[in-house]
Amino acid sequence: MSKALDGVRILDFTHVQSGPTCTQLLAWFGADVIKVERAGHGDATRGQLRDIPDVDSLYFTMLNHNKRSITLDTKNPKGRAVLDALIKTCDVLVENFAPGALDRMGITWAHIQALNPRMIVASVKGFGPGKYEHCKVYENVAQCAGGAASTTGFDDGPPVVSGAQIGDSGTGLHLALGIVAALYQRNSTGRGQQVLAPMQDAVLNLCRVKLRDQQRLERNGTMHEYPQYPDGKFGDAVPRAGNASGGGQPGSILKCKGWETDPNAYIYFITQAAVWPAICQVIGEPGWIKDEAYATPGARLLHLKPIFARIEKWTMSLDKYAAMDILNQHDIPCGPILSMKEIAADESLRESGTVVEVDHPTRGKYLTVGNPIKMSDSKTEVTRSPLLGEHTEEVLRQLGYSDADIANLRAEQVI
Ligand code: COA
Repeated sequence: MSKALDGVRILDFTHVQSGPTCTQLLAWFGADVIKVERAGHGDATRGQLRDIPDVDSLYFTMLNHNKRSITLDTKNPKGRAVLDALIKTCDVLVENFAPGALDRMGITWAHIQALNPRMIVASVKGFGPGKYEHCKVYENVAQCAGGAASTTGFDDGPPVVSGAQIGDSGTGLHLALGIVAALYQRNSTGRGQQVLAPMQDAVLNLCRVKLRDQQRLERNGTMHEYPQYPDGKFGDAVPRAGNASGGGQPGSILKCKGWETDPNAYIYFITQAAVWPAICQVIGEPGWIKDEAYATPGARLLHLKPIFARIEKWTMSLDKYAAMDILNQHDIPCGPILSMKEIAADESLRESGTVVEVDHPTRGKYLTVGNPIKMSDSKTEVTRSPLLGEHTEEVLRQLGYSDADIANLRAEQVI
């Protein structure tokens, strides 16, 4: 079967998490992704958070499937020549170096344009143009600068970062979309372009609803679906809302049977207005259906704490899966708090290819997250990440280098 990005060649100059997330997605859509790594070193994540000595870490393997790896010293003139040959034959260069690093290597936009005017150059940086544009940035810095941390956590505690890697993987996703859009535009213009996804901007995009709330707060001084209402106080910035849903349908995380010993014996429960009568029946409060204090969504906002306390009395009598089964029979939106252990064993996620077992020559079998985007005419087959420089000779031969040239480059430690 063909793939959506068959024929697209990616010069993958990415490292760590944000860039590799992007190029891994492109590889899953069928692009030929050639990852360029520093000769002798490779992507730093190969050696980070290792669980097996001298074996590529899960951090690396889980972000670099379906790619080829070549080693190249791009600061050596002969390495630069190889890089130039790659620029001439690839469609997209993706990079997430520190600001200015590509220019310092001599790989300026003007240089790339001169070699290949059709090339798209896609970058992740921590910040866009402005006072912080020169800063190096990692995941949690982006979560803090993009507004996620100030709006996550509980009112009486410090800002909190999320386990979801919205700064790195979230930005990688944004960049992948920009690349695909630029490839599409190139069909009509014949030209490449620069694509930039700053991590701060990507996080803010994902926190869009909080900027919405900032303006609501400034206009009205209060927000009724926040836990600070009606008893607590609002300041002048959007506060941390705990586990409140933040949307038009109030929700909360509630304890289930076993919560005393199991840290994940909880369920997320949404009191969707459309199913309020069903909720009242299920929890044993049929009188609340007509009771003025609870009958309308507006009235309920004044009593969310006691309402959730009562629902929790019910959820605590059941384990989270039993509660979910009952609630789903009534179309009441809810979701169990799943641990990574439970997710790893989830049969549906395995069947859909979202949790995949991969075999690796030096590490053996491991689990990874496959392509979360499913396409009917471009199926994803997850293949293992490359060993450092595994495809150097193959790629150089494709570029026209002879065995003798390759031996010389190796002797001079260019590859
Ligand atoms: N051959 C020779 N040199 C190479 C090379 C190669 N194949 N690949 C990289 N290098 C060099 C770079 O040119 C750079 O040299 P310079 O400092 O002389 O310009 C050097 O390696 C280090 O690159 P850099 O990107 O600065 O890595 P770092 O480890 O110091 O910083 C980050 C890491 C992630 C903080 C930084 O890259 C960054 O801020 N990136 C943008 C934001 C981002 O993506 N952050 C999230 C990462 S998940």
